[in-house]
Parts: sequence; C-alpha cells; structure tokens
Amino acid sequence: MAKTKTVYFCQNCGAESAKWIGRCSACGEWNTYVEQVVSKSINKTPISYETEKQIPQKISSLKSTKESRISTNINELDRILGGGIVHGSVILVGGEPGIGKSTLLLQVALKLDQFKILYISGEESPQQIKLRAERLKLQNENCYILGETLLENIFTQAINLKPEIIIVDSIQTLYSEKLESSAGTVSQIRETAASLLKYAKETNIPVFLIGHINKEGNLAGPKVLEHVVDTVLQFEGDHNNVYRILRTTKNRFGSTSELGIFEMCNFGLREISNPSEILITQTGENLSGTSVASTINGARPLLIEIQALVSSAAYGTPQRSSTGFDIRRLGMLLAVLEKRAGFRLGQKDVFLNVAGGIKVDDPATDLAVIASVLSSNLDLPINKNICFTAEVGLTGEIRPVNRIEQRIAEANKLGFKKIYISKFNSKGLDESKFKIQVIKVGKVEELFRSLFKDK
Ligand code: TYD
Ligand code: MG
Repeated sequence: MAKTKTVYFCQNCGAESAKWIGRCSACGEWNTYVEQVVSKSINKTPISYETEKQIPQKISSLKSTKESRISTNINELDRILGGGIVHGSVILVGGEPGIGKSTLLLQVALKLDQFKILYISGEESPQQIKLRAERLKLQNENCYILGETLLENIFTQAINLKPEIIIVDSIQTLYSEKLESSAGTVSQIRETAASLLKYAKETNIPVFLIGHINKEGNLAGPKVLEHVVDTVLQFEGDHNNVYRILRTTKNRFGSTSELGIFEMCNFGLREISNPSEILITQTGENLSGTSVASTINGARPLLIEIQALVSSAAYGTPQRSSTGFDIRRLGMLLAVLEKRAGFRLGQKDVFLNVAGGIKVDDPATDLAVIASVLSSNLDLPINKNICFTAEVGLTGEIRPVNRIEQRIAEANKLGFKKIYISKFNSKGLDESKFKIQVIKVGKVEELFRSLFKDK
C-alpha cells in the first residue's frame, strides 16, 4: 500500500524540509513553508516514454547542428526569443490573469500552420478555445486542442499525435498521478515541469508553458521552475491600457533585455513594430512636466515619455511616488537637485510616471527625469522637439551612456530637433551624420540654464 508522506515546501524557492521551519534556509524568506502530501513509495522514474541511455561523448565529436529556429510569424516574439523558437527548448510565459497569455499562444499556434501543434488547455474547454480562435480570425488545419490536465494522459496523446510544438495552458493546472498533492502545488509544478522539460530535451520538441503570477508579481510556484526552463517571458502592462509588454527575463538562447510591445485589439494581439511613435503623446502642445528620454532596451532604442508632477505637499510629509521608474533612483535624483542645484523640493510632493505602462531601468533616463521634475516645478514647458539621454551622478555631473549614436539616430529618425547628452559622451561621435542638434552638458545647472534661463 502506498505510504502517505508529507513534506514541507518553501513556496518561494521550492526547497524541501521534513519539518516546518519559519525561515527558509535556502532563500531566507519567512513563513513560506507549506505542508504537502507526497507519496514517495511509487518510484520516481519519469513518465512512460522511452529514454535512451546517455553515455559521455567528446565535445569535439558532437555534431554541431546549425541552430535552426522556428519562426513564430510574429516578428516581435521572434525578436525577444532571440530569433525564433529553438528546437527542444522550454519557454515559460508568465503574466497576470487576463493580460493575454492564452491569446498570444493561441495566435502562435494558429499562425504556425506549417507545423503540427498540440495546444493543451487545462483552463478553458476546447469549445471556448474555438470561440477565441474565431475571434482571432485565424485558421490552422494542423492545430490540435486537448482539454486534459493529467500529465500521463498528455504524454500518451503526445506520443500518438507526434506534434512538432506543444503549448501548455497552464502549468498550474497540470498534475501527475504519481503525487497525491493537488494541481498547482509546488510539488506538482516541479514534477510536471521537470517531466515536460525532459520530454522536450529528448524529443527536441519545443514546449511553451503558461504560468500564473502571484500577488508579488513573481511566477506562482517554485522559483525552480524559472531555473529549469530555457526562456522566461514576462507579460506586463495594466488592464486599463491596451498596450502589453512582453519582456525576456531569462534566455539561454538570446539577450535578456529585449522587449516587445503589443496592442490588445478586438481580434487579438497586434504587434507594434515602431513603439516610439505610440509612446510619445502626439498632442502637439507643449506641456510642463513632460520630457522624452531616448533609452535602449536590448537591441532596440526606444523613445519614452517621462511625466512629472511637482506640487506643494498637502499634508506634513511630502509624497514620492513613481510608476515605471525606480523610486529609490527618483529619491536620489531629487536629492541631487536639492543639494547640487539648490532646488527646494524637500517640501514638495513629487509624482513620476513613465507613459505607456513601460518600466525602464536604463540609467540614460535620468536626465529626462530631472528635466521633467524641473519643468513641472517651474511650470515651464519643455519644447516637444527636445529629448534627453544621459545618466546623472551623485555630484550632479551628467555622465556618458553607451550606444550614444543609436540613441541619437532614433531621436533623429522621429523628427526631434535637439538632444541633450553628456559632454563626456562626444568621443568618436560623428554629429554631422544627423540632422538633429546635439547639445552637450556637463552639470545639472548647465541643463537648467540651457532649458529655462537662456530663453
Ligand atoms: P487571455 O489571453 O485570456 O488572458 P490570460 O490567458 O493571460 O489570462 O486574455 C483575455 C483578455 O484579453 C480579456 O480581457 C479579453 C481580451 N481580449 C481582447 O481584448 N481581444 C481579443 O481578441 C481577445 C481574444 C481577448
Ligand atoms: Mg489564459
């Protein structure tokens, strides 16, 4: 008879312990251990498909397969994957409920009509998926839908059908008979993901896994899930906004700083190939408190609008709030303005917002943040045809940033007339290539004078 055994798992990192402990010794988080029933008496060999015995091989004798990738027919997705889907890779797509994970992967499944695709849905019934496919106005004779959540049955079907790509919606709904704990628990997620990974590696079939996100914005389930998969894509964006951002947070086969932008329309997700255009408000009016930063995400330059609102604190303690930009960095920039340029912002509320629901972590955004704060504080608009790209240091110096030519070229392309950069950034820079006027500044005070005083 199967003996029931319970173990405790850390919800954060998936570490295992025989008894309950308050603080995880592996990841240091508090109160993350939960008890789960695991039946250990059934042996742990992976699930019913043939596995070849592996023997050590010389690296020089291994055949180099010219990494051929499968194009998803969605350019933005191909780009953030590093040029398409790698055979045998496991790609985890995470995001909040309703953000569009199922829509995106159904679009992938329907657009890849030259491949046999198996879409496993544990969340929606095949009829519901059919309705969604009709809404997307896409058809594919090679796309199969399976409404199943038992892992062993999925493998049986996959062995019969021999699909070329598998999509699992979602990993949290799958369960394996071998474990007694219910679907979505750490042990089930670990087991099912590990089996799917093994399946992908042995058969060379790529597998997409959809994963939910918990309240803190992390992928629900163990962190180990992120470690085992090859690529982690994160879907971001707020529900009020039609724009969705797909970001790579891990990629064994490409860069991790790539970012793709989609728009949720009536017929699914539409890729936005020139995001700078939509991220900048096209009102034509000059408004105080807004400025444009030329940033780089992965391989691609992106112009984004930074909005600041500085007002007298209504209550005793001034508020600092920031959306899309690191709040500690904002605090630091405000301190620089206070100490190095003599602006009294200590008693002011400061709100900062990156337009379009984007999160930026490129230090070159600093100068635009400072410009927006100054503009809002003085209530003097910055001309719409000016943009900024430089880092700001603690002493108030304006520091150089990488790939300056690309940043200037993007601003030039979008018709900006002036760009502020660090004066230490001009080495090897050939300005004559651009129509845009490049203004070099070395200190925050110089920026201030140039923007607001010299007029
Ligand atoms: P969905 O892909 O079901 O989200 P997830 O799988 O991440 O939970 O996306 C559902 C949302 O997208 C829902 O709010 C409706 C909206 N939507 C559209 O606006 N247009 C469409 O064509 C589709 C299919 C969905
Ligand atoms: Mg879904």
